[in-house]
Amino acid sequence: MAYAAVLTAGLFRGSVCSQAALSRAIPRALRHLTLTSIMKSKRKTDHLEKTANAVRQEVVSAAKVCGIANESPTVKRLRLLVADQDFSFKAGQWVDFFIPGVSVVGGFSICSSPGLLEQERVIELAVKYTNHPPALWIHNQCALDSEVAVRVGGEFFFDPQPAAAAGNLVLIAGGVGINPLLSILRHSADLLRERADTGRGWETGTITLLYSAKNTSELLFKKNILDLVNEFPKKIACSFHVTKQTTQISAELKPYITEGRITEKEIRDHISRETLFYICGPPPMTDFFSKLLENSHVPREHICFEKWW
Ligand SMILES: *[C@@H]1O[C@H](CO)[C@@H](O)[C@H](O)[C@H]1NC(C)=O
Repeated sequence: MAYAAVLTAGLFRGSVCSQAALSRAIPRALRHLTLTSIMKSKRKTDHLEKTANAVRQEVVSAAKVCGIANESPTVKRLRLLVADQDFSFKAGQWVDFFIPGVSVVGGFSICSSPGLLEQERVIELAVKYTNHPPALWIHNQCALDSEVAVRVGGEFFFDPQPAAAAGNLVLIAGGVGINPLLSILRHSADLLRERADTGRGWETGTITLLYSAKNTSELLFKKNILDLVNEFPKKIACSFHVTKQTTQISAELKPYITEGRITEKEIRDHISRETLFYICGPPPMTDFFSKLLENSHVPREHICFEKWW
């Protein structure tokens, strides 16, 4: 129960999320739900329990579904219009996802960039089908104009200050672990555009995405990723991997795809003093690559990882 007490206190701490602010931001039914679901969520596998000690923002914002589409046979992509002007996030963070009438709180990484939120007040999520009630709701009941509430949390993010030394990024993704890394990739592209337009902002080195999924239909956001590679051919590179491909790969995708897992050599080839590594995938994959980097003397503060479950 300790985590529940901490979270409940967190909801009402500070000035941004005073009871009054919360009342304005969230419909009555949802407000009740927010608290009761936190109290009820006791399952070991639960998002709230797993992230009980994680940093969370105070703002809980109402949000309305303004887009829903199939990203793959098993993944739905959601666009949410966020109501609260104080809601903000850093590339790589997740949201607690509160659904009216569903007592379990979801936890999903944001896959859009902070820039999209600034311009359109929109965030995007991509959610894989599972039996977890929030994922079931998204796949079976969620529709345009559905109302939910979201709160940002997490310590896995990329937020370079304009004066920071230029550096390279290597993003290593497995399956839906692509979500926070796509947000980081999109944010990097925003920084590259800002730099090109104004001469200001963080000077990025190269950004390499190594992304592994079961097959080409489970490689999410292929087109978005390749558009970024084509927009910044000298800065952004990607290497897709498929581990269980049974059909032929299209000519268009072929140049970017390797059959088989991401290899140790591929990772080692990117090690340098100026490189930051971000890893997100199934726990065994994340552990394997973070250990490999540590054993190759990459400083710990250059290795960031998030496990999904
Ligand atoms: C990838 O695997 C999924 C699930 O097994 C299957 O539905 C889909 O047809 C496969 N796609 C390709 C391109 O092989």
